[in-house]
Amino acid sequence: MASKIFFALSLLALGSVVTSRSIPGADSATDATKRANDVKVLILGGGIAGVIAARTLHEQGIDDFMLVEAQDQLGGRLKSITFGAPGKEVVLELGANWIQGTQDGDGPPNPILTLAQKHGLHTVYNDWDDIKTYDHTGAVDYLDVFNQSVDAYTDLTVSAGARVAKKLVDGTARTGYSLGGAKSRTAHAAASEYYQFDWSTPEESSWIASSWGNNFTYNTFGDDNLMSIDQRGFKEYIQAEADDFLDPSQLALNALVQNISYSNSGVSVVLADGETLTADYALCTFSLGVLQHDDVRFVPELPQWKEEAIQSMTMATYSKIFLQFPKKFWADNEARMALYADTERGRYPVWQSLDHAKFFLGSGIFFVTVTGDFSQRIEALSDTEVQAEVMGVVRNMFPDVDVPEPLAFHYNRWFSDPLFRGSYSNWPSSFFSEHHENLRATVDDRLWFAGEATSQKFFGFMHGAYYEGLEVATSMAKCIKGGGCVTLNHVEDVTNAHPYWI
Ligand SMILES: Cc1cc2nc3c(=O)[nH]c(=O)nc-3n(C[C@H](O)[C@H](O)[C@H](O)COP(=O)(O)OP(=O)(O)OC[C@H]3O[C@@H](n4cnc5c(N)ncnc54)[C@H](O)[C@@H]3O)c2cc1C
Ligand SMILES: *[C@@H]1O[C@H](CO)[C@@H](O)[C@H](O)[C@H]1NC(C)=O
Ligand SMILES: *[C@@H]1O[C@H](CO)[C@@H](O)[C@H](O)[C@H]1NC(C)=O
Ligand SMILES: *[C@@H]1O[C@H](CO)[C@@H](O)[C@H](O)[C@H]1NC(C)=O
Repeated sequence: MASKIFFALSLLALGSVVTSRSIPGADSATDATKRANDVKVLILGGGIAGVIAARTLHEQGIDDFMLVEAQDQLGGRLKSITFGAPGKEVVLELGANWIQGTQDGDGPPNPILTLAQKHGLHTVYNDWDDIKTYDHTGAVDYLDVFNQSVDAYTDLTVSAGARVAKKLVDGTARTGYSLGGAKSRTAHAAASEYYQFDWSTPEESSWIASSWGNNFTYNTFGDDNLMSIDQRGFKEYIQAEADDFLDPSQLALNALVQNISYSNSGVSVVLADGETLTADYALCTFSLGVLQHDDVRFVPELPQWKEEAIQSMTMATYSKIFLQFPKKFWADNEARMALYADTERGRYPVWQSLDHAKFFLGSGIFFVTVTGDFSQRIEALSDTEVQAEVMGVVRNMFPDVDVPEPLAFHYNRWFSDPLFRGSYSNWPSSFFSEHHENLRATVDDRLWFAGEATSQKFFGFMHGAYYEGLEVATSMAKCIKGGGCVTLNHVEDVTNAHPYWI
């Protein structure tokens, strides 16, 4: 991490930021006694959206802002840990790990790829189609079934497109699969379907929006997935980017926002330590989950149209569970991805070995991914209980191996964390475009919103957070500089064309 940012941290720790409240909306730029806690713009949250919004304001000539972040560093859902037994440690990613879609020929590059290249991140291609299949009896080849699930997923996105063309109503992805004849009734089929779809379940996801989301990312940036194995942590690209433009006086770390008061003349924010920060404008980049859980109090409460939008989108959870063994007991030529079909759908299904020349050879590490309700379930269990379950599965997968207990075991609890409350947003079938517009819309001209969830094309992804930080801050800059300012509009009532034909 950049030393400048550490510097800001120590300044805050010394209490050198003056705490006194000034009048919201006062023209701080001409106020000779201006204090660091009264600025033009407060950017709330130092994840990708917050950092890119700050950079955008800076590029627009607006430097009178403060970036406010609860954690001791920037990055948000880019979060790494040092994992492993003494002498065998590796830096791994608990949060985002892949640049999903890189660049398709001469098409636009994924902006995260551009940043990763600019800051020299160590990334490697990760082929998700290179897979070996297992079930509770061990290694079993059901690649034929797996291949059918690949086709069924393509069919789903195509049938969704046909519905859009005919203006047909949305449904769940489950409805789409079933109408397409993909019923996935066996454990092998269910696991294969899970691998294609379940970064949120088909039941919880919009048929159209999930297809649309997939298309926007992969049709724009191509099908490649680049995995970060950078030992500074994947967050390095956003921290280094911040270090290029951010002045220590513009950053407040370890600053937990408790209340956000707003009116059409300004905003004031109360931190957990009692300090009050004021500004003409605020940009809230907290996750959808944080907004849903009322972890931050808005004064007055957010209007109904905003609250309906917040509560109508959903926050998914995705968990990586890391294990390290004394040495690799899976064969050297083992495919890097593995799919395990349990009799219970979604029970420890997706596995990836990191003990490979491309990743961390000799590390003895692999990880398993779970999502959705299953993630919430393991967050409520103890590490010991989860480890016992996972080891049961490993022993099912490798019945001929005398599998030892792991040297190290770890998973992160994203859903329980009040700074995140999940991993990324998901678009359910009862969520309408108007809702989404409202999620993004400005409240009282002063309170703005951005983050992965507000991206209509790229919700869920890092590049969604990036584009939203850029676009929303560009709109804010227009307002701040005056002339032709339009705030982001909302729809007062999202109406249903034919409520029960009454
Ligand atoms: C496990 C996991 C895996 C993922 N994998 C990928 C992937 O491989 N590829 C991909 O493209 N995307 C992936 N994502 C999604 C990606 O990480 C997010 O879309 C993106 O990082 C969101 O950035 P953001 O700025 O919108 O939000 P955040 O990163 O959540 O930023 C918001 C910030 O607000 C701070 N905050 C919250 N509450 C408060 C408060 N009260 N006071 C002060 N600060 C507060 C938080 O600490 C955080 O830093 C993954 C996410 C997770 C969790
Ligand atoms: C599955 O698809 C892959 C990639 O298209 C192909 O190489 C493989 O032969 C297929 N396997 C089966 C069993 O259909
Ligand atoms: C997604 O892409 C496919 C293939 O390019 C296309 O047929 C389909 O209409 C698209 N779906 C949506 C919802 O846009
Ligand atoms: C801040 O929010 C807390 C609850 O989260 C509430 O008790 C308190 O009155 C609020 N303070 C202000 C200044 O609004």
